[in-house]
Amino acid sequence: MISGVTLCGPVLVLTVALFAQSSSPRLSPDQPRGIAEPSLDPRVESILRGMTLEEKVGQLVQYSAGQPTGPGTGRTDYDDMIARGQIGSLFNVIDPHEINKYQKIAMEKSRLHIPILFGLDVIHGFKTEFPIPLGLASTWDPSIVEKASRVAAMEASADGIRWTFSPMVDIARDARWGRMAEGAGEDPFLGSAMAAAYVRGYQGSHLDAPDSIAACAKHYVGYGAAEAGRDYSSTEISEHTLRQFYLPPFHAAVEAGTASLMSAFNSLNGVPSTANPFTLKQVLRKEWRFRGLVVSDWNSVGELIPHGIAVDGATAARKAFLAGVDMDMVSSLYHDHLQQLVSSGQATPAELDEAVRHVLRVKLALGLFDHPFVDEEAAPKALYHPDSIALAQTAAERSFVLLRNANGPDGRPLLPLATAPLNIAVIGPLGDDSSYPAGAPPGSGPRISLPAALAQRVGEGHVSRFKGVGILDGTDQEIAAAVAGAQKADLAVLALGESSDMSGEAASRAHLGLPGRQQELLEAIVHTGKPVVLILFSGRPLTVPWAFEHVPAVIAAWLPGISGGPALARTLFGEVNPSGKLVVSWPRSVGQEPLYYNALNTGRPSGDVDLTRPPADIASRYVSRYIDEQNTPQFPFGYGGSYTSFTYGTTTISAQRLSAAALNKGLVAAPNAVAAMTAEADITNTGSRPGQEVVQLYIQLRGTSVAEPVRMLKGFRTITLAPGESKKVKFELKPEAFAIWNARNEFAAEPAELKVWISPDSARGSAAEAEIMQ
Ligand code: NOJ
Repeated sequence: MISGVTLCGPVLVLTVALFAQSSSPRLSPDQPRGIAEPSLDPRVESILRGMTLEEKVGQLVQYSAGQPTGPGTGRTDYDDMIARGQIGSLFNVIDPHEINKYQKIAMEKSRLHIPILFGLDVIHGFKTEFPIPLGLASTWDPSIVEKASRVAAMEASADGIRWTFSPMVDIARDARWGRMAEGAGEDPFLGSAMAAAYVRGYQGSHLDAPDSIAACAKHYVGYGAAEAGRDYSSTEISEHTLRQFYLPPFHAAVEAGTASLMSAFNSLNGVPSTANPFTLKQVLRKEWRFRGLVVSDWNSVGELIPHGIAVDGATAARKAFLAGVDMDMVSSLYHDHLQQLVSSGQATPAELDEAVRHVLRVKLALGLFDHPFVDEEAAPKALYHPDSIALAQTAAERSFVLLRNANGPDGRPLLPLATAPLNIAVIGPLGDDSSYPAGAPPGSGPRISLPAALAQRVGEGHVSRFKGVGILDGTDQEIAAAVAGAQKADLAVLALGESSDMSGEAASRAHLGLPGRQQELLEAIVHTGKPVVLILFSGRPLTVPWAFEHVPAVIAAWLPGISGGPALARTLFGEVNPSGKLVVSWPRSVGQEPLYYNALNTGRPSGDVDLTRPPADIASRYVSRYIDEQNTPQFPFGYGGSYTSFTYGTTTISAQRLSAAALNKGLVAAPNAVAAMTAEADITNTGSRPGQEVVQLYIQLRGTSVAEPVRMLKGFRTITLAPGESKKVKFELKPEAFAIWNARNEFAAEPAELKVWISPDSARGSAAEAEIMQ
């Protein structure tokens, strides 16, 4: 990311090249993307020539051979099917011995000896469990994401799994949608940087290295825009919005070389994503030149029937296949109907061959034909390496977002805590080993709970533990016991929030407050008058406005993974200074959702109207607002506190005038285009502790052919500053930063008034102004 470091007077200048997040060179526009190695092609063609129709279809068929069960997984004849060349991929098999057993059948009994591709949802680590992706993104550090996914790849591949259904790169603007937990939040620029980082981490420098696994960017596309935040619900996204917000992270994954994409469950403007030729063929294959594999989501081929665009399995298979879905995950409809569809001329042999090529190319690129088996003895040795556990801890520490840190009893910010002597009551249903999210069986691996990690600092006898209430239930007696415990302690650490199964797939929520009786417990403890630190564990922002008014210190810890306990203890005691920032707007109330910073201004922006009061007159009423809630989030996108403080100097830019024509020439000349503009600001640590700060750059364009958002992120950079230290942070803005998807849905620069902010979040900072001329 840093393209140049120069000493400039007393301050260090960091030059940040935008769109240079990737360490790998960008491909030229005419180079094919994805599994692009042309050297694979002769082998692909030679295998293809020898295949029967049945064997070709077999490569496009995938089943879940382990848990969980569901439609299409009820088959028990996998051994026989593999021997007949009727299965291309299996997933949810995690025992290396079982993987080898199936592979042996493919390699020894099937006619063509084509290996099986074993997949799994390796989402935030395989066994060494990292923070959930929403937490990883809150680090704003793609290098952490890349390293975490490298560890995941090393562990999963040692187990025999060479394909992960990750990263989820869906833009998520609505905290009701449980799968917000699995992605990088609401912004396409940050989401693109994270998407590319995941792909680089999983796939490594060579896909055929034994510790590389194929990535799968999902869910293509628009799945995160589910109406009302209800999982699997329909989406209506204009082509303009699709191209501006939802497609870029997928494009970034393709540019980074992802081996595969997964087609989504949702219908998109009436056409289910799993049967959508516009997104799967026009955009993905024609515009992006993707040569990798497209797999359906779980039974999403079969779901074309309930969607209503197919009345039987044969039609569902035909529509998905002709739209561009290569592999059918579990529905069995390709197995049942594709041969007949080809023999009857409803799909051509050439179309079938092309889909099979996509599968074979991935298998060849992974080196599976040459090394199909996993070393069963070696597998356990790759797991839980001390360096991996340490990385999971760093990732967790960097993911925490300090939401509030008001003064404690001594008149100073409550956090960080002074060390011993201190008696701490840890209260709440979360914070113990088993409360960390799924990904590794609870209790496996070297876990240290939050109370244990605190006890390591203040001494065993100084930490007491009270459940208070369950996540969803609880009794008056339990609350009373917790209150009594708090009264005896010097400080209460409340570990509240959601269990891991309250976010993720099929975990949409209509209420975003603390579940069960946790709010009651919180209020009872705060009313004891003891200082309270609230740690929120969740896969999404929670609407807890009372806490933000009455609890002095609040940390969003997300679901922090295997090293969450020590990471939190180090943070509470100031051994690390929090630096995470929000990647989603934190709502005040659920009625504000969907809520995102990069929204349009509307024709009636609320401007200076005081939205904390109900409308009192015409001027304060007929603006885009609620009569009973503010428009602003509780905390904006990009927000996060620190134990030190930072001040931002004025944003200055290198040019007051840019030419749209020159920018458009630069766009065509990409990737080597020089910066069209640089922007810089001095950032100073004005507090008394060293700290890391995520510096953000936003722009706004006005006067364009389509309305543009009030702000768009175009750059970010983490800097470390000692107390009193200043750094000048300089961003390079390439022509792409100023291009928009215009009224003709072309990506181009237009004449506009331009504002540029270098700021600590999406809501603050002063802008430099410039003009883009004709
Ligand atoms: C359904 C989910 O939507 C998808 O993300 C996942 O990869 C598949 N199931 C396979 O488990």
